[in-house]
Amino acid sequence: EIVKGVNGLDKVVLREVRGSSAEVYLYGGHVTSWKNDHEEELLFLSNKAMFKPPKAIRGGIPICFPQFGSHGTLEQHGFARNRFWSIDTDPPPFPANISHNAFVDLILKPSEEDAKIWPHSYEFRLRVALGPGGDLMLTSRIRNTNNDGKAFSFTFAYHTYFLVSDISEVRVEGLETLDYLDNLQEKERFTEQGDAITFESEVDKIYLSTPSKIAIIDHEKKRTFVLRKDGLPDAVVWNPWDKKAKAMSDFGDDEYKHMLCVEAAVVEKPITLKPGEEWKGRLELSAVPSSYCSGQ
Ligand code: BG6
Repeated sequence: EIVKGVNGLDKVVLREVRGSSAEVYLYGGHVTSWKNDHEEELLFLSNKAMFKPPKAIRGGIPICFPQFGSHGTLEQHGFARNRFWSIDTDPPPFPANISHNAFVDLILKPSEEDAKIWPHSYEFRLRVALGPGGDLMLTSRIRNTNNDGKAFSFTFAYHTYFLVSDISEVRVEGLETLDYLDNLQEKERFTEQGDAITFESEVDKIYLSTPSKIAIIDHEKKRTFVLRKDGLPDAVVWNPWDKKAKAMSDFGDDEYKHMLCVEAAVVEKPITLKPGEEWKGRLELSAVPSSYCSGQ
């Protein structure tokens, strides 16, 4: 179902028979909402999000491509998040357990203007699907369609903003003892110590070669988000905290308390594709009552 969203921008609404739903804006190929079958929102979206090109929507799941962050010469996080994507009305087959209403394929191809900024031809297919249990699945397929014989390289992230009740009550599991780059400390390499990660100040770290499963445990809500990823070795963890929050025009001063970005990404070792080659990066998100997770 395609409807008009904020500022008249088109959005696709996905619904799964048991009641879960998701919303995807064509602007940015951007998931802005994911609700479980009790209609509880699971993603953070800023009250000050602008929904106005060229600013990316603040919250949900921005797609960072062809560049993550400032790791290159392009604009921060690349341009995919502020381009208009189109819907593929004749998509390739989908898994048998997913109903027609519960998935959409969006396509991004370079415009003439884009080709001036990043001189490559590609097709980026983003499939957003809701699984029968309300899981949100994102699959990106990026193909090099250059006809000049040239390979290209890119970095990438699903910049997911999770909605949490209180950041100081949140713990992330799966990143302990890993190496990371710290954006707040001149990109030096560090090794994480100790137990699960907790939050008491600004954080902006890129964990390297992370396991395929990461958990975000929200004690107050008694909810655990589980990320499962494939083709996405790195994981960015970001919370701007109070000072940076105040400096962002599209983010409320206190909103940092209710969000945490954990971003399945490819940052340290860019992907290189020769003409005709395709890369696939998959992220599966589930939200479960914390008690279900004990003993895992
Ligand atoms: C994170 C980066 O992924 O995104 C941070 O690691 C950055 O450095 C943040 O501040 C938000 O970026 P933006 O461009 O959406 O404000």
